[in-house]
Parts: sequence; structure tokens; C-alpha cells
Amino acid sequence: MGARIRGTGSFLPERRVTNDELAASVDTSDEWIVQRTGIRERHLLGEDELPSDMGKAAAERALEAGRLTGADIDLLIAATNFPDMICPGSAPFIAEGLGLGNTPFFDLTGGCTGFVYSIAVADGLIRAGSFERVLVIGLEALSRVTDWNDRKTCVLFGDGAGAAILEPGDEGEGVLSSALFADPEKTLLLHMPAGGTRLPPSGETIGEGEHFLKMEGSGVFKSAAPMMERATLAALEKAGLGLEDVDWIVPHQANLRIIRSLTRRLGFPSDRVIVNLDRVANTSTASIPIALDEAIRSGRIGPGDVVVMTAFGAGVTYGSVVIRI
Ligand code: UT7
Repeated sequence: MGARIRGTGSFLPERRVTNDELAASVDTSDEWIVQRTGIRERHLLGEDELPSDMGKAAAERALEAGRLTGADIDLLIAATNFPDMICPGSAPFIAEGLGLGNTPFFDLTGGCTGFVYSIAVADGLIRAGSFERVLVIGLEALSRVTDWNDRKTCVLFGDGAGAAILEPGDEGEGVLSSALFADPEKTLLLHMPAGGTRLPPSGETIGEGEHFLKMEGSGVFKSAAPMMERATLAALEKAGLGLEDVDWIVPHQANLRIIRSLTRRLGFPSDRVIVNLDRVANTSTASIPIALDEAIRSGRIGPGDVVVMTAFGAGVTYGSVVIRI
């Protein structure tokens, strides 16, 4: 018996920044950003807001949608790459804010695939009977690790959080399959050099800008669509389904050209793909749960629909989950 979604929620910070506003401080233009990425604006965390505040807000909306309270949650998984504190992460702050008491929690670092990885983990734990109700949150505040003078990265990212509550489903509903992959040979395509135990913070690392996210954009770009294609076909095969059975694909929202390349490769209709990156940009591990929540709330995705969530990201990691809503 797989895990079904009981409720979803999402949160975007109030501050909205358009491409034109960015172009006022770095050498870029609305035209370049729209043509190369599809992004028009993004939401950024305010100075007095925390990543865990976003996670908590998204979780509260998911609880409300599922007509549940914090007392109904048995496990919290916070998927994030840049937590409130490297130790002890973001999950404890979210748990405290939600009043989860002694409910266990952990952060999961899986690049932008973190939410997909977390859904697969939660599904496994629910299938095993270890937990009844799991709150999975994808939250990311990339603005806090972005070099705002680097036009190759700063135009791409936004902040946000999305959440889903999973619980045991009936036969044939909920998570039908998942297929997770990784490629450690591509690890340095996307990384933050300093701040961990490999290269602890020092005056030198700060001076060299090594606490910012570094990305080899074209390397990521070339790998992204083939990786999501492979994971999607593998997950569908495990579920005993074909692409013709899929109602919606909810892909990681990194670049519209990557999403179009994926749908071309799969031969899947692009109007059955959820895209919101024009408004929210790339929110890393939050991108899929935000897009999913928006699509469910607007009624585009409805009960019984077969949905593929697919992502790629730092690590590199990639993977897909097939779920019947
Ligand atoms: O969650 C996963 C994280 N990352 C991604 O998914 C990113 C994947 N990669 C991409 O989306 C694309 O590679 C980018 C959007 C980052 C770049 O697009 P591209 O079509 O691969 O451009 P490029 O890197 O080949 O750069 C083309 C030109 C360069 O100028 P020259 O060398 O041809 O003169 C860049 O310097 O565009 C220039 N450029 C810009 N120009 C204006 C790069 N960034 C910008 C910018 N504004 N923001």
C-alpha cells in the first residue's frame, strides 16, 4: 500500500523582483533572461525572514488543506540544501514553529531533487509501516547563497517552500513508483566550495567568494533533460504504465528550455506540463511542491490524475516519482 497525498501547501515570500529590477544592478536584460530561461520574476526572502519560516508557512497550509494539525504528524522531512544552520539544519526550527513536540525530524540534502528523493523515502517508510503520516517540505533560500554580481547565476534563482503530507493510501492510489539516480562524476557542476568541513569559513574563503553557489550552467543544461527522461521512463516502467497514462508532468522549474527539451524527448504534450518558473524562477528543492500545490489549488490537477514529478540537481542527483492524486 503506497502513500497518498493528504494535503499540499506552498509559500512565496512577499518581495517580488522583476528582471528589469535585476538589470538595474547587473549586466543583463529582461529580453536575455526571458529568451534563455523563461523566467520573468522571482520572490526573495526579506532580511528578517528565515528559510524555516517559509517551510513552516507551507506546512501550515498543507495541514489546513488536509484538515489536520501538527499532532497528526509522525515524521517531518525537510528537503533543503541551505538550511537555517548547517547544524542542526532547518527541520528543528520548523518542528518548533509547528509545535510538533517530540515528533522525529531530519533534513534531507539531495540537490534540487531533494523533494522527489524525500517523497520516495516517505513512501518507503509508510509502506514499511514505520510511520503513518509524514510531512515532507521542500524549502530553499537560494538568495542567501547567490552572488548578486554574477549574472550567470543570480538571474536564475528564487526563494520559496512547498509541502505535502503523505499517509497510507488505498490500492492503486498515491505513490505508484519512484526511480532515483545519481552521478558523482558530475558533482562539481553545482556546488558551494566553502563553509563545510572540507573548507571551513575563513577570511580568505570569504574574500574569494567561495560561500556562493557556483554553477557550470551549460554542463547542467546538457545533462538535465536526458537525466529526467531516463528517470521518468524508469519510474513509469516500474509502475507498469506508459506515457499515455500520464495526465501531468510536474518538472523541476530550472529553465523553460530544459522543460521543453524533456517533453520533446518524451513526445509528451507540453500543455500537460505544469510550468510556473516565469513567476517564481528556480527555487531548487521547493520548485516541484510549489508547482504541485498551485496546480492542485487551481483545479488543474485533480483526484485520480496520474502525475510524474521529475527533477535533477546538485550531487548530481536525479529522479522521478509517479503518483496517482
Ligand atoms: O536547478 C539546477 C540548477 N541550474 C540549472 O538548471 C541551470 C542550467 N543551465 C541553464 O539554464 C543555462 O545554461 C543558462 C541559463 C545558465 C545559460 O544559458 P546558455 O544559453 O547556456 O548561455 P551561455 O552560458 O552559453 O552564455 C551565452 C552568453 C555568454 O556570453 P558570450 O560568452 O557568448 O559573450 C554569457 O556571458 O550569454 C552571456 N550571459 C548573459 N547575458 C546576459 C550569461 N548570463 C547572462 C545574463 N544576461 N544573465
